[in-house]
This record gives sequence, C-alpha cells and structure tokens, in this order.
Amino acid sequence: MRETQAIIDRVSLLNEHFQRLHLSVENLAGEIKPGHSLLARRDTREWEPYLRPRWWPSSINPATNSFSVDLPTSTTYQQGEIIGLLGLVGEPFRHRRTLRHVLLLAVDTPPLPLLLSIPFLLSNSINVTLVISGSGLDYPTKLLPPEVEVIQADDQLNWSNQVMTVGLADQVFVTVNPDRELERMETVWKVFHERRAEVPKLYLFGVMQSPIPCGVGACQACLLALKEGLTTLCIEGPAVDLTMMGWG
Ligand code: FES
Repeated sequence: MRETQAIIDRVSLLNEHFQRLHLSVENLAGEIKPGHSLLARRDTREWEPYLRPRWWPSSINPATNSFSVDLPTSTTYQQGEIIGLLGLVGEPFRHRRTLRHVLLLAVDTPPLPLLLSIPFLLSNSINVTLVISGSGLDYPTKLLPPEVEVIQADDQLNWSNQVMTVGLADQVFVTVNPDRELERMETVWKVFHERRAEVPKLYLFGVMQSPIPCGVGACQACLLALKEGLTTLCIEGPAVDLTMMGWG
C-alpha cells in the first residue's frame, strides 16, 4: 500500500449514468491486476486517508503508465485534475491455471469490480459471460468487447439457459449491490447450489464491495467471519471463496 497521485488526462461520457476517467500515474499501472482497487481522494492538499471512494480500474496500459476507471456521472471530474490514490488494495483474483470459460455476475450493481478481468481473460483466450441484473443494467454493456456474452437476469436471479451457463463456467466471480451484501451473496450461493451437485472450492467467488476505511488492516472495519475464522477483506479480499462462508 502506498500513496501516489494521478492526473486525469481525459473524461469520456459512456452514457447518461457512467463516465470513464483516463488517468496517468507514475509506476503503478503495471502492478494493477484484476481484483485490485484504489482509494481515491480529490483534494490532495490535506492528507486524509479515511472514507475515500473506492475505484476499480477498468483497463490498464503499463506501457503508457495509464489506466481508466468507470464511475457514475453523479460526480463531475475535470481534465487535468490531480487525484490522490492509496493502493493497491487487496489481492488479485485467484484464477485457475486452466480456464476455458469464466462467468461474471453483477447482481443489482454495475460490474465495476469485475471489469478489469475482461481484457485479462480475453487476452488469454478465455471465454467470458457477464450476467447482469437490476441497477447493473444502467452500465453500458454495449461498450464491452463484442466477444463478451452479456445476459440479462431478472430480480429473482433467473436467466435463460441458466443450467448451461452455470455448467459451462470453470470459475464464477460475483459482485452484488453492497446494501445487503451478505444476504445477496447467500442467495447467489443457493442458486449455484441448486444448479450443481457440488460447488467445489475455488469455483464461486464473492467479490466484496464493503467499505474500506483504512485499506491496510488497521481499523478492522472490513472483518468477515468465515468458517475457519476472521478474514480482513482489505488485505485478503476482495474475492472470497463462497465455500468458506459456512452456508451449507
Ligand atoms: S479497511 Fe481497515 S482493516 Fe480493512
């Protein structure tokens, strides 16, 4: 975890709900992996580590020390603005060595924590399906690479050909609306448990968006109880193997 600064090179409007910030940053872009996030602060004159918004990079370009992040249009950003960043937060996603098909699931939330997985997986010739529901549908999925299969789910988490989609997936990464994060994750767990005879380890991961006040394991605000004890989401998250949750 270290503090650095980024400059906003460009802001592009994706649709009425989302914008993309294109940022340059020194010596960080090459280290960002799917699963990492950054804690951002706009006014860099005072050092204030707490309650920074959490940004999930959507693409990186190590050759130009740049990355992008997709954010709601509810906050306006300016070209040339300096952003203070703390990061990197968390551990990269634990992808299996042999993967053919990955299912990404965004339940009533935009798929922001999952976006950086997409170029990583596609560049490794891994098929990607994104299932998205509720408020997640505000995100402009039409702008995703055409290779990504996008499926709309209803509010009960049903979608067409669900049995086949779940059966084809070698790994699944799920993010849910953080308003009732654990309750929604448990619902996802039940859906997969009904669709598969067994949910193996390292197959179904919940990508937690819980608040990260300090990001360094100091405040204990992000502790999560697993079957085998507590985990610190800002250090060992954001992805949690849902077989560790003790939901049966
Ligand atoms: S955010 Fe403070 S311990 Fe994780």
